[in-house]
Amino acid sequence: MKVWVPMDSAARALGADDVAKAVAREAAARGVDVQLIRNGSRGMVWLEPLVEIERDGQRLAYGPVAPADVAALLDGTLEGHGPVEEIPFFARQTRLTFARCGVIDPLDLDDYAAHGGLAGLHRAIGMDGAEIVAEVTASGLRGRGGAGFPTGIKWQTVAGAVADQKYIVCNADEGDSGTFADRMIMEGDPFTLIEGMVIAGLGVGATRGYVYLRSEYPDAIRVMTEAVRIARARGLLGPDVLGSGRAFDMEIRKGAGAYVCGEETSLLNSLEGKRGTVRAKPPLPALEGFLGKPTVVNNVISLATVPVIFERSAQYYADFGLGRSRGTVTLQIAGNVARGGLFETAFGLPLGEVVNDIAGGTASGRPVKAVQVGGPLGAYMPVSKFDTAMGYEDFDAAGGLIGHAGLVVFDDSADMLTMARFAMEFCAVESCGKCTPCRIGAVRGVETIDRIAAGDAAAIPLLTDLCETMRDGSLCALGGFTPYPVLSALTGFPDDFATQREAAE
Ligand SMILES: Cc1cc2nc3c(=O)[nH]c(=O)nc-3n(C[C@H](O)[C@H](O)[C@H](O)COP(=O)(O)O)c2cc1C
Ligand code: SF4
Repeated sequence: MKVWVPMDSAARALGADDVAKAVAREAAARGVDVQLIRNGSRGMVWLEPLVEIERDGQRLAYGPVAPADVAALLDGTLEGHGPVEEIPFFARQTRLTFARCGVIDPLDLDDYAAHGGLAGLHRAIGMDGAEIVAEVTASGLRGRGGAGFPTGIKWQTVAGAVADQKYIVCNADEGDSGTFADRMIMEGDPFTLIEGMVIAGLGVGATRGYVYLRSEYPDAIRVMTEAVRIARARGLLGPDVLGSGRAFDMEIRKGAGAYVCGEETSLLNSLEGKRGTVRAKPPLPALEGFLGKPTVVNNVISLATVPVIFERSAQYYADFGLGRSRGTVTLQIAGNVARGGLFETAFGLPLGEVVNDIAGGTASGRPVKAVQVGGPLGAYMPVSKFDTAMGYEDFDAAGGLIGHAGLVVFDDSADMLTMARFAMEFCAVESCGKCTPCRIGAVRGVETIDRIAAGDAAAIPLLTDLCETMRDGSLCALGGFTPYPVLSALTGFPDDFATQREAAE
């Protein structure tokens, strides 16, 4: 009998290790021959630890499972959810990037290959660099780290640069609130990221890669490090990638976890062993990046999506989506929701459908008040904007941003003045200090919001002015985008600001 118990850190935090031990113990006690596989997560976090058992060729899902449930689980008397692929939250998804996550044993390269892994790389090996870059461009893939910059154009710039050494740097800093897609794929399907980085290297002529991974992700660091070791031992990495005659190797580097070190130039400084402060652009990292050499800096999900584009074709990928937002978006649904987790779907779903239908509304049962989309620099979207489609341009037009596609849901007990203050304070704490509008502005911003809370109506236009200065004058998006959550709270929820004022009067 095959039993899968996730080793994903969300599942572990909810007791998966104890469940795995209980499975081994109960199986031994019953004399049942159980093959226990520690897989990645399927992304249905509210059901973790989600245990799967193979029966009649199907993988049946049970969860959340506690150690005390394991006897009934093995006896077949525990109530479950049926085949995992038929759980509505899962069945509604289009899993391209996450197709294997939770399905395979993350560190079994043969299992990976048996589920479509390496097919993309084999195809890319038959292409020259320009063809590889053209394929990525044709897919319409845009950076999933936040800015949504077209990946093909970035690769083209690095490919066209003349240098004795080029680099692929994977941004696995994942600092946005409510996000976990990078972690989930690194823990659940690490070879996908490795394969994506190798294809990027072949495309632009880079022979070395780095994954900059935050220290708060010890499980991802462990899995990725082991996956790199296996990949090297099996010839997927090294001087002769899969017998192609082309070289690519990579290593895992640990960051200390400052939010600003997710910003690409700050990340490069940190990777070089320097303090993580933002660099002025130009020069672009694509031309002068790591150690001054041409460097592709891409998010984990951007790179982990590359293999499926080569496996299924650029056109296949581009056929999903909305407008200039092609392919799938890996929504990470968190906060006050009934069903939180990872939901991969073609761009285009309205925000309200994600929050109300897919996530099932709030966990508290109270009405939804706001959703912060795109991390701590994203706008608070009120219910009146729930018809906004998940697409880069649509969100932009609605005054928001998709960012890394994290959604944090709040019910009507949230006080939006407090949330605006939190956004400013976050910027003040995380600022790298390089430019004045952010370093000083965020501190003044907190003080100004406190004045509003104390009833000073004159402080409201001052806050608006300050936000404009930060937006227009900051060197990077930390200072430049903090006005999004602050002003969206002010304009979308004026009562929360007025109530405070009136109460004080
Ligand atoms: C303050 C700040 C934090 C950021 N954090 C991350 C992060 O954690 N992960 C990430 O991939 N991109 C992050 N970015 C965006 C990166 O600067 C960069 O756009 C991205 O790594 C490029 O990869 P992509 O084109 O694949 O999205 C951040 C940007 C800013 C301004
Ligand atoms: S906006 Fe803030 S984080 Fe960005 S460079 Fe300026 S001080 Fe640093």
